[in-house]
Amino acid sequence: MPNVVIIGAQWGDEGKGKVVDLLTQDADVVVRFQGGNNAGHTLVVGGEKTVLHLIPAGILHPGKSCVIGNGVVADPEVLCTEIDKLKARGFLQDDGQLVLSLDAHVIMPWHKAIDIAREAKAGEGKIGTTGRGIGPTYEDKVARRGMRIRDLLDEQRLARKVTERSAAAREELARLGAAASWKDEEVVARYAELGRKLKPFARDAALWLHRALAAGKSALFEGAQGTLLDVDHGTYPFVTSSNTVAGNAACGSGVGPTAIDTVIGITKAYSTRVGGGPYPSELKDETGERLRKVGNEYGATTGRPRRTGWIDALALRYAARVNGLDGLAVTKLDVLTGFSEVKIAVKYRMGGETFDEMPSDLETLEKCEAIYESLPGWTEKLDGVRRWEDLPKNTRAYVERVAQIVGVKVMAVSVGADRGETIILENPFRK
Ligand code: GDP
Ligand code: IMO
Ligand code: MG
Repeated sequence: MPNVVIIGAQWGDEGKGKVVDLLTQDADVVVRFQGGNNAGHTLVVGGEKTVLHLIPAGILHPGKSCVIGNGVVADPEVLCTEIDKLKARGFLQDDGQLVLSLDAHVIMPWHKAIDIAREAKAGEGKIGTTGRGIGPTYEDKVARRGMRIRDLLDEQRLARKVTERSAAAREELARLGAAASWKDEEVVARYAELGRKLKPFARDAALWLHRALAAGKSALFEGAQGTLLDVDHGTYPFVTSSNTVAGNAACGSGVGPTAIDTVIGITKAYSTRVGGGPYPSELKDETGERLRKVGNEYGATTGRPRRTGWIDALALRYAARVNGLDGLAVTKLDVLTGFSEVKIAVKYRMGGETFDEMPSDLETLEKCEAIYESLPGWTEKLDGVRRWEDLPKNTRAYVERVAQIVGVKVMAVSVGADRGETIILENPFRK
């Protein structure tokens, strides 16, 4: 059975949650493999909105399994709240539906405090993180001193690790001139309690997934953030602290790369970015304001206004390359209704120099401005359209031109936030 990876092809918030929720109907297992509750994935079903931060976007489908893989950093407080809220709404009635890797790293109170203190100290040069402790948790993971879900399940081990780690975190916070507001005994008691709550879900997720795939089940891997926020391939240092690209679906869940059949990149019909960092097609004018207003571009996690701009074909071509994209899903096409012209960034200019591909040097990228190709817009509302042929001619021409410049076919377009407001041109599970 096919296994499909969905990743963000831009700077995050492309509508991954919506597409994953929709495609879950054809998959058996949905897997988060990186990031943490810096993610905010919005699903709208029959007008009812759900925002998920850690639990995979397949969870609204009873009978489908959801895996939080080893590559995720999990804040147990947030995870337990998310579980309780879903249960209260009638979802996740069977604990067997959620599988949490024993090896996922745990976000501790000091990780959040350090993240926030560093950003405050950085002033203008800050990254604009979500303040959820993501970076410091991944740092501890790579430094081989992190705490994992398995550590919450043994109170003695937890107490020992908390004592060790909290002392170092206090020193770090003192260096940053910030206060450490936690008490070690309270952290141990609370995290042991959270461990008890999470125990029914915690297991060797990689083995569980291996067995599911061996039994012929198909998996949908749900990326968080986006390609340009990848710690290796993004606009470093204005990135998140994990690999967001498709290749990490394997490492972050424990399947081999040969298990992956199809990789789909999600892109908005325009672009957005939250936080700092270069963004050559950003619009700081009325058009940008209109995209923010019509597209309701405010962060699903932090509520921050998103920066907005036209679609960037160089960024998408780059995403196609580093993810090995088989196809694109273009979301929020409806937001472009009513613009007299729609634009695609096709090159960058820096002084007298032009670039056809995204420059890898941050300082160069920061100085680049986009050169656009302009296409005629359309006035028709799109949210009721369910067939490609029924889209206005100019809308189709716009999508086709984006696909042509990027060099990747379009597999789906989305014309509204609701699950049903989607046109699937090629379903990766029904080849
Ligand atoms: P994710 O992080 O990639 O899952 O995306 P977010 O949930 O952070 O942001 C996408 C936003 O766009 C959410 O509010 C979605 O409900 C909304 N959305 C997704 N697809 C469409 C679409 O085709 N049209 C409109 N108008 N909204 C959409
Ligand atoms: P989803 O999965 C958009 C951004 C932050 C900041 C940078 C680093 O919903 O698409 P972090 O807290 O990760 O250390 O912040 O990454 N960022 C996101 N932007 N969507 C996200 O997730 C993001 N997760 C992190 O704004 O610029
Ligand atoms: Mg989001």
